[in-house]
Amino acid sequence: MVLWQELTDRRDRLMEMVGSGAIIFASAPIVPHHKDVEHNYRQDSELYYFTGFPEPETVAVIVPRHEEHRFILFVRPKDPERETWSGRRIGVEDAKTIYGADATYPIGELDQHLPKYLEKADVIYYHFGHNENINQKVLEHYRRLVSSYSKRGTGPVAIHDSSFITTPLRQIKSGYELTQMTKAMAISAHAHAHVRSIARPGMYEYELQALLEADFRKSGAMGFAYPSIVASGANSCILHYVENNRQIQPGDLVLIDAGCCFNYYNADITRTFPVDGTFTPEQQAIYDIVQTAQTNAIAAVKPQNTINDVHQAALETIVAGLLDLGLLQGDPAEIIETEAYKPFFMHRTSHWLGLDVHDSGFYKTKGEWTTLQPHMVITVEPGIYISPDLKPQENQPEVPDRWKGIGIRIEDDVLVTNTGKQILTGLT
Ligand code: GLY
Ligand code: MN
Ligand code: MN
Repeated sequence: MVLWQELTDRRDRLMEMVGSGAIIFASAPIVPHHKDVEHNYRQDSELYYFTGFPEPETVAVIVPRHEEHRFILFVRPKDPERETWSGRRIGVEDAKTIYGADATYPIGELDQHLPKYLEKADVIYYHFGHNENINQKVLEHYRRLVSSYSKRGTGPVAIHDSSFITTPLRQIKSGYELTQMTKAMAISAHAHAHVRSIARPGMYEYELQALLEADFRKSGAMGFAYPSIVASGANSCILHYVENNRQIQPGDLVLIDAGCCFNYYNADITRTFPVDGTFTPEQQAIYDIVQTAQTNAIAAVKPQNTINDVHQAALETIVAGLLDLGLLQGDPAEIIETEAYKPFFMHRTSHWLGLDVHDSGFYKTKGEWTTLQPHMVITVEPGIYISPDLKPQENQPEVPDRWKGIGIRIEDDVLVTNTGKQILTGLT
C-alpha cells in the first residue's frame, strides 16, 4: 500500500532539514543464502520510510532546492525475461506514477544523472551502510564534484551522516505508523495466547514456533519480525536462543520471545510461563521480581523521564529482589555500581521499536540520555537469567542448584503519550 500523503509529509519534513543539501538513500543489498538462493528481500528501512519503494537496486535522491526535480528514484527497469524468473518489477514508469517521484531513471543510468542533482547542493547527506556498491558511487561522485568545484563554484563540500537528520524523524511515530504497529502487536499477542494455551510437556519447541509463525502469516503479517525464540528449561537463559529443537519437559518454564512484522512494522513480545501451569516456588519467586521490575519500569515511561530512568527502575527492582532471595548480598547501590547484578541481568531494559526491531533512535545525545517524548515507542523487557553454568562471583553467595536453569523475561511494547504511556501489547 502506498500512502501518498504520509510519504509526502515525511519527505516534506526531511526536505526542511536537508535544505540546500541533497540526501541519498541506497536500497538494502540482496543477501545470498547459498548458490542461486537469496534471503527474502527486505528494503532498507531509511529508503522505505521516505519512499515506500520496496525493490532492490534502488537509489532515492532528495534535493529540496533543485529547480526541476526534488525527489528522484533510480530503479530496476522492467525486464519480462528476468521477471519470469524472479518476480514482477515496478519499473521506471510506475515508480513515477505510483510513488510520486518527480523523475525516475533506470538504475543503470545512475552515474549519468546523479551529478546534475548534486552539483548545486552544498552538502551530501548519506549513511555509509551495507550497500558497498552505492557507498563507492557516492564517494566517487563526491570526489569528482569536489575536484571540479573551482570551475563551477557550487557543489558539495562535505558528506554528513544522514542518520543524524533521519533518526529524530523516525523516532516520533505518526498515527499511520502506530496503526501498523498496533496491528502487528495484536497479531503477535493473539499468537502468544494461542500457543500458550496449546503448550504441553512432550511438545518440541519448534512445534510452538511453527504455530506462532503460522498465526502470523494467517493474520496477514509479512512474517516474523526477528527469529522466534522458543526456549524451554535452561534454554531460557540464552538471550537469543533460536535453535528451538528441544523437547519440553514437565516442570519447565517456556520463554517465548516472538513478534510479527506487519506492513514493515514490528512487534516484540516476550512471555515466560510454566508449561504445566504451575510455577515451582523458585520459578514463582523470580517471576514475581521480573513482573514487579516491569511494572516499575513501565511506571517510569513518561515524557521528561529518560530512557535510562526506565532501565534504572527495572534494575533497582531486580537488585532488591535478588538481595531478598539471598542470591546477591551487599549494598544495592554498590551492587549496581560494580555491576555485580550482571550475571543475572546482562541486557538493558528498552530499545526503540518501529520499522526496525531495534529501531533507529539515539539512546544518548552529546553524552546525555535521551528524554522520552510523546509518540516514541519502546520495549520494556526486564529479565533474570540464572544460567546452569553460573560461576560464583567474588564477595557474592554461591547460588544453590535449585535456582539454576531459570530464565524469565517479560517484554511489552509501550507508547509514550502526552501524559504518560500506553501499553500496546497488554496480554496476561
Ligand atoms: N527480540 C529481540 C529483543 O527483544 O530485543
Ligand atoms: Mn526487544
Ligand atoms: Mn524480544
